[in-house]
Amino acid sequence: MAEELVAADIRVAKTLPSKFYYEQEIFNFLNSIFSSWQFAVHDSEMSENSVIPLDHIEAITGEPTVIVRSEKPHCLSNICTHRGMRLALQPCTKSILQCEYHGRTFDLNGKMKHMPEFEKAIGFPSESDNLRNFPMHNWNGIHFVSQEDEQKLPWTEIGNRFDFLEIESFVHDSSRDRDHSINANWMLYVDNYLEGFHIPFVHPELNQTLDYSGYSTEVFEGGVLQIGKASQGDVKFDLPKDHPDYGQDIAAYYLWLFPNMMFNFYPWGLSVNIVIPVSPEKTRVLYRGYVKDDTLAQRGAGSILDTVEIQDQNIIEQVHKSMRSKAYDRGRYSPTREQGVHHFHRIISEIYEKNR
Ligand code: FES
Ligand SMILES: [Fe+2]
Repeated sequence: MAEELVAADIRVAKTLPSKFYYEQEIFNFLNSIFSSWQFAVHDSEMSENSVIPLDHIEAITGEPTVIVRSEKPHCLSNICTHRGMRLALQPCTKSILQCEYHGRTFDLNGKMKHMPEFEKAIGFPSESDNLRNFPMHNWNGIHFVSQEDEQKLPWTEIGNRFDFLEIESFVHDSSRDRDHSINANWMLYVDNYLEGFHIPFVHPELNQTLDYSGYSTEVFEGGVLQIGKASQGDVKFDLPKDHPDYGQDIAAYYLWLFPNMMFNFYPWGLSVNIVIPVSPEKTRVLYRGYVKDDTLAQRGAGSILDTVEIQDQNIIEQVHKSMRSKAYDRGRYSPTREQGVHHFHRIISEIYEKNR
């Protein structure tokens, strides 16, 4: 059997070759992994508007889609079936979608309702005049959409660990939203996210609030969960007695879902990072903030997100510049601190080797 690109045994494995971080061909090849489940919106955003174009999904996948809320939410194509005009340009509270080009209308289930001057058209309307519906999944008030015909979420192993937070009751706070542009490959952003190994070196402020010795990493199919323990006296989760982590002082849950979604749970609420690959050398990272208890936002690991983000970006941009070096190609993993990075690289290398 041919040797695996990234060995299963972390103790002997080497990291992904540098070309994964800059070659256009590999970047293009990996495009397809983004068409699976993606974070779309939170419940609280849907209570404000009945029609929400998903600009970030278009930036990630190239597919214009819109979330609409009738009796239940749907994810529809945002392209008019007549000649391709964009249907919804802004979030709004409308109960019907009307194309601004020639006036075709659709109901919020995507069914074409009316089209002027088509009385003489034969075989009209047909199924293809309705808007395409994309699969949606609701996980604790967080809605995911997919562009593949799939219903199963790959990360079911998370189970009910986060149920106690009642995420569906959180409220979107746009003052916490960010749109960062980084001169680095998107996988370097993910690599960096998946280990706390660098915290004592890169994040002195965060390191004060976390007990580094208690930092832990769990890997599962389609994701990684990192758990940051609170330093003594710092703000922590109030865990119910039947919770698997009951008795521990947890400051943050850092949940990554393959390939590009990060859900950072703090006692104050949730900060979502959405990683958007722009080119092999450029990445956008969107932040979305959802608040549970704002009074807890001034202390602890969740209080210095902007500082931590800039510190991470500086490092990642430096690393990116090194990727084309002739003197460096691959490194090794810390078996105790880089299980998350290893897990991500294993997923990427398996997809690459299987489909190449
Ligand atoms: S493109 Fe929408 S009605 Fe013509
Ligand atoms: Fe970091």
